[in-house]
Amino acid sequence: KLVYVLNGPNLNLLGTREPDIYGSQTLDDIGALLVERGEELDIAIDMRQSNHEGHLVDWLHEARAEGASAVLLNAGAYTHTSVALLDAIRAIGVPVIEVHLSNPHTRESFRHTSWVGMAAKGTIAGFGADSYLLALEAAARL
Ligand code: DQA
Repeated sequence: KLVYVLNGPNLNLLGTREPDIYGSQTLDDIGALLVERGEELDIAIDMRQSNHEGHLVDWLHEARAEGASAVLLNAGAYTHTSVALLDAIRAIGVPVIEVHLSNPHTRESFRHTSWVGMAAKGTIAGFGADSYLLALEAAARL
């Protein structure tokens, strides 16, 4: 099995970015944890990050072309703005699991809307880096 893990804007700054909200682990740290757990589950991990919305759209298309069984998507702030990501998720027919480190529902009201969530198979949010690992467990069970 192959699982894509796609990360949106500002997540390259994890570790130093508002650590009280997002924790002190870097995205590379999280990637290493996913690869390790993936080996146990017999799942290859392809993890990417971009600050550009269109890259995320392209990578969702690529996930289908490469035969990924699921995508974990933390779209960062594009979660709350991007109809293009909603459409891409609907277009590819690959289950997408929405991931957030924080729980957006406990934060500003503009974070309460998720275009990604409208098309996602499900959402895991609020568990810090563990959100990604829990989402990988969910992907393994699909
Ligand atoms: C986030 C939550 C978003 O609201 C925010 O814009 C992010 C990170 C999270 O993982 O908690 O960039 O997706």
